[in-house]
Amino acid sequence: MILPAWVNGCLNTRSFNYMTQTKNTTVFPKDTIILNSEDLQNEAKGLRFALPALGEFATGFVVRFHGKPYAYINQCAHVSVELDWNEGEFFTSQKDHLICATHGAHYRPDTGFCVMGPCKGKSLKSIEVTEQNQQIVINLSSISKNDI
Ligand code: FES
Repeated sequence: MILPAWVNGCLNTRSFNYMTQTKNTTVFPKDTIILNSEDLQNEAKGLRFALPALGEFATGFVVRFHGKPYAYINQCAHVSVELDWNEGEFFTSQKDHLICATHGAHYRPDTGFCVMGPCKGKSLKSIEVTEQNQQIVINLSSISKNDI
């Protein structure tokens, strides 16, 4: 299967395989990503996706926390680096916060607000996400170059 170039930025093996092999996944190249709800487990590995509008290597991610999906640009509020300590691994071991692998900033999963670390008081940039009919819809039109 030939993928749009921007899908190749999905570094999470599980989501990548899912996106390439599952017929029920629909990827709209312009501004919407649709995932099956069952592929995003509560307080578990997040799903990464490319954000070509923000640059060649920019990524975003979505996690499920307390049953709801939350999506963010994958960029720490302290320094411009990705958060995950292993591809798709965003949660602390207690599963109560998102953590930056570089200096350990802790973010609330539901708001992206940094509660501990060098960027305390700042926030991750959120991306609009909704869920209905067993589908998670990520609206990429809600972000712009000014978000990074
Ligand atoms: S780069 Fe994330 S806490 Fe410093």
